[in-house]
Amino acid sequence: MTSVDPFGKTDQLDDAMLEALAVRFEARGKHPLFSKMLNEYLDAMNPASTATVLDMGGLAARAIARRPGFSGSITGVDLSPYLVASANRLAGEEGLAEHLHFQVGDVRRLAFADGTFDALVAHTLLSHVDDPLPVLKEAARLVQPGGMIGIFDGDYASLTFDQANPVTAKACDEALIAGVVTNPRIMRQMPRMLRAAGLDLAASFSYVLSEAGTASFWSSAIETYRKVIPKAGTMTEDEANAWAAALRGDSVAHVFFGSCNYYAYLARRP
Ligand SMILES: C[S@@+](CC[C@H](N)C(=O)[O-])C[C@H]1O[C@@H](n2cnc3c(N)ncnc32)[C@H](O)[C@@H]1O
Repeated sequence: MTSVDPFGKTDQLDDAMLEALAVRFEARGKHPLFSKMLNEYLDAMNPASTATVLDMGGLAARAIARRPGFSGSITGVDLSPYLVASANRLAGEEGLAEHLHFQVGDVRRLAFADGTFDALVAHTLLSHVDDPLPVLKEAARLVQPGGMIGIFDGDYASLTFDQANPVTAKACDEALIAGVVTNPRIMRQMPRMLRAAGLDLAASFSYVLSEAGTASFWSSAIETYRKVIPKAGTMTEDEANAWAAALRGDSVAHVFFGSCNYYAYLARRP
């Protein structure tokens, strides 16, 4: 089945949608639990201060560049010229440009030589690519033997928002998941996939990002999803607006429930 997930087709979205996504990625990256999850696996990877690092698809690059004492070099690769320009601008504004450069590229086919990088990160990427195994094999090719790969993503099969009518809630969950991710079970498949890619599983971390009563993290996610789902076609604009309004109302009434599990894996190239 061809994927409808707009996050895997960012080279085809209009600038207004891409700006909404860029704003969302920044807000999400600043959320305390999201940055805790990122920093925990980066701490465990502990890239050497002089390491060369490849970030497939994004935001982790700036977090690595900000690590105390880091003087290495990071290359970020993303499918979208708009998101690459925005990431380079933010890196410049934060004084990180010396160590960090983003370029347009497709993680399914990258031109770097074997073993170019000491370490590699894929942060909320693999849930969005059509075929994750070749991307993992490409990651395994691009790090040096002994090099670490950090993989972080949502277990989006667990993404759920309650509504007054549980039948409606279940149908909306299913439409949401089908619209915003390509591989909702990828993080459950990861131990098997790492083996298939010839990588050793070194560590894993698990999290539940759950909010009850009032939505905070989830309120900005819902606002982004409201705009994204009609692009995917799994809800109409009216349906997506009604879904978001119901959840907003629940948050105001302090009866909101929203949750998703997240996982990080560290893998080593033998
Ligand atoms: C959900 S976003 C995550 C962005 C960022 N990593 C973060 O955590 O905020 C997924 C990113 O993967 C990028 N992406 C999707 N498919 C890609 C591909 N085949 N090659 C390179 N980047 C891709 C998208 O452009 C998007 O920026």
